[in-house]
Amino acid sequence: MTIPFILDTDTAQDDCVAIIASLLDPEADLRAITMVAGNVGFDRQVRNAQMTLSAAGRLGSVPIHLGCRRPLVLPWVSAENVHGDGSGGLDMDFTGTATEQEHGVDALIRLTAEAPGEISVVAIGPLTNIAMAAVKEPAFVDNVKRLVIMGGSNNGRGNITPAGEFNFYVDPHAAHVVFEAGFRDVTVVPWAPLTLNDAVFSREQLAGIDAIGTPLSRFFLTVCGPTLAFDESVGIPGTTHPDSLSVGILLHPELVTQAGDYHVAVEADSGLTRGYSAMSWGVHGLEPNARVVETADGEAFHRWIEGLLATPTEVSRPLRGGLFD
Ligand code: BDR
Ligand code: CA
Repeated sequence: MTIPFILDTDTAQDDCVAIIASLLDPEADLRAITMVAGNVGFDRQVRNAQMTLSAAGRLGSVPIHLGCRRPLVLPWVSAENVHGDGSGGLDMDFTGTATEQEHGVDALIRLTAEAPGEISVVAIGPLTNIAMAAVKEPAFVDNVKRLVIMGGSNNGRGNITPAGEFNFYVDPHAAHVVFEAGFRDVTVVPWAPLTLNDAVFSREQLAGIDAIGTPLSRFFLTVCGPTLAFDESVGIPGTTHPDSLSVGILLHPELVTQAGDYHVAVEADSGLTRGYSAMSWGVHGLEPNARVVETADGEAFHRWIEGLLATPTEVSRPLRGGLFD
């Protein structure tokens, strides 16, 4: 049986890979993409998602709903210094491409209400849409089967500040709302140490992906190019893939090799530690509100992505730029 889910994304680089996995894994039943303000300009994110669908030969096959264009309280902060335009300079003819009229928050509420307790949500951007849905329609919280959140660090390093991981930093108020909301089954895929230990693709692994020689492997290498340069400049030996790992953990729970029940709280009021995730591991008398992934099978994760990239696809519309020129 396939796993129905909605992907809430700020589409750039690793979000693109997460979309590919959501489209092509045989276990996946991707019902909708909802867009949230995060990595790069909002409209650019939409185009990045459309180009990803095109690379997978699936343009037009999954509805894209536009969600919140800014965080709940604070001004939007981008990661364009990391991602560039989020696609490695790709372009496509967008004439006639359409997005849904229905707002992303309403789509999250409606789709989960149509099949209560059956549809999961994988949130790989700031949590603005998820928080808005929970506030607008409290039943949303009960209707979501499983909520997988990429964000925060397990009492570890941030990536946009020493304390703040990007997704929680951009909208810490939304993260606060979501962790307090009472979702029945929350899984957190943190930046540190998990991503840095188990979801980094080295140059050697990227060379292996290059050898695959499909449109999807070219797409992957093109979108990951700018982040490889950035990651290496800050001492990370490769490109980071927490977003596709989050999808992988929903579809293939066996990728998780160690996890624990935690109470997760996100700092929204401090400048210095904005977005910091305090993850209490069970000795502080706090009720757990999430399962936090501590370690994953990095080799299996890499093999899974390589297998998906080997899928032969015919691009829906020609892509220009990067390895497509
Ligand atoms: C997260 O921030 C974004 O830049 C990535 O897409 C990922 O979701 C990592 O901190
Ligand atoms: Ca993301």
